[in-house]
Amino acid sequence: MTSDNRKPTTTDAGIPVASDEHSLSIGPDGPLLLHDHYLIEQMAMFNRERIPERQPHAKGGGAFGHFEVTDDVSQYTKAAVFQPGTKTETVIRFSTVAGERGSPDTWRDPRGFALKFYTSEGNYDMVGNNTPVFFVRDPMKFQHFIRSQKRRADNHLRDHDMQWDFWTLSPESSHQVTWLMGDRGIPKTWRHMNGYSSHTYMWANAQGEKFWVKYHFKTDQGVECLTQEEADRLAGEDGDYHTRDLYDAIERGDHPSWTLYMQIMPFKEAETYRFNPFDLTKVWPHGDYPLIKVGRLTLDRNPTDYHAEIEQAAFEPNNLVPGIGISPDKMLIGRVFSYADAHRHRLGVNYKQIPVNSPKVPVHSYSKDGAMRINNVSDPVYAPNSKGGPSADGERYPADSTWETSGDMVRAAYTLRQDDDDFGQANTMINKVMDEDARARLVSNVVGHLKGGVKEPVLSRAFEYWKNIDPEIGARIERGVKEG
Ligand code: HEM
Repeated sequence: MTSDNRKPTTTDAGIPVASDEHSLSIGPDGPLLLHDHYLIEQMAMFNRERIPERQPHAKGGGAFGHFEVTDDVSQYTKAAVFQPGTKTETVIRFSTVAGERGSPDTWRDPRGFALKFYTSEGNYDMVGNNTPVFFVRDPMKFQHFIRSQKRRADNHLRDHDMQWDFWTLSPESSHQVTWLMGDRGIPKTWRHMNGYSSHTYMWANAQGEKFWVKYHFKTDQGVECLTQEEADRLAGEDGDYHTRDLYDAIERGDHPSWTLYMQIMPFKEAETYRFNPFDLTKVWPHGDYPLIKVGRLTLDRNPTDYHAEIEQAAFEPNNLVPGIGISPDKMLIGRVFSYADAHRHRLGVNYKQIPVNSPKVPVHSYSKDGAMRINNVSDPVYAPNSKGGPSADGERYPADSTWETSGDMVRAAYTLRQDDDDFGQANTMINKVMDEDARARLVSNVVGHLKGGVKEPVLSRAFEYWKNIDPEIGARIERGVKEG
């Protein structure tokens, strides 16, 4: 300890240093010395503080908490994390999609809702959004979609013309765009929004029976949103408004929570359901598949090092545990590859050894070496072996999250069913979910967005797009742009 009881500064090697303020020089006014390795460590570490930001979802914040199962869903899944009474530690990260790491929290955008459960069977990640649907239904279009929402190549500006160009040429986006342009396109805070898996996943119970499921994390704080005017003002006054709100709430002991409900479809019903239940641009009406309560997520602990615990958090839809599997949703199948690939690039190949990403159960994998490996491996380093190394237990952990399929290899859209169309659910949202005030705000938000630089021929296509969703709303939007 120093004379005033503070810890002495050290180098990263733990060696006490002589000064926090002065470099080593030849006399007080003379040149500096190359062997001042502490100065060099300061400069070198500073120059390497930034890592690549996430491609989408760069701006965000998060917290730790736990998930507690309150209801019995063991008839649908054997996953340990969802067995009655189980309490599991979690980390969550909320985010915007298109903005960069320093961009305002209150820009209109979907919000990420990425949740990692440190379960007794390994890490389970539910990487969702605050919207139950998405803009596209084939992973081939995802990269193009994100580029259209980010910045132009020439002037490095975001461009509404580019956004509407993509959307109007991708009519399957209409449901999510209606969502985005409505009230829920800007949540009041992260505490006041729901989280959805959006995708359909599979659950399998202990008897091997399978179900198709969708996750709904309903905020216990109630859904509240910002108007465009409030959001614009906050973007100027406090770009970190949502990040600050979550941190401050947890600091003062006001722990936000969400109740998890599932929609559950018996396995066989997917074959004959009136629209493709794996199409990510569609919701399942609650009348067909009512919400079934599972438990509560509570956030009660802030990170103490944002970079170590939130920036380096790596969520990946492929982190699935026994009793939970994927579905034939092509987007989900694409995501099962993409995230771990992104992490290997952004964080390095051994990113799962960063404490926030490490499971709280022993790891017995055959992965070995690579940059920044921290955990020792031991022999044997191959399988099969006769040396007592780990051995896969297919009897205890059967590959039960599977489905039958056959057909030629093709590049094609999903086969259409009776109620499969691009605009129907967006129309229902406008006419059955929104009231007249909400519709007026939708029209005003779209008009404002279109007037922000959308040119012909995209502008006319945007009017057609909205008329396809709802002729009346389309006409109001066209009038608003032309007369306003
Ligand atoms: C982040 C890819 C669709 C939710 C990311 C990242 C990639 C990616 C590469 C950055 C990961 C990182 O660097 O840490 C894709 C692809 C998609 C897709 C290829 C479709 C084919 C979706 C959908 C959702 C979603 C449909 C929601 C249902 C998120 C969230 C994050 C994210 C929440 C941020 C995770 C975090 O907080 O670290 N996505 N994504 N993505 N994506 Fe996706």
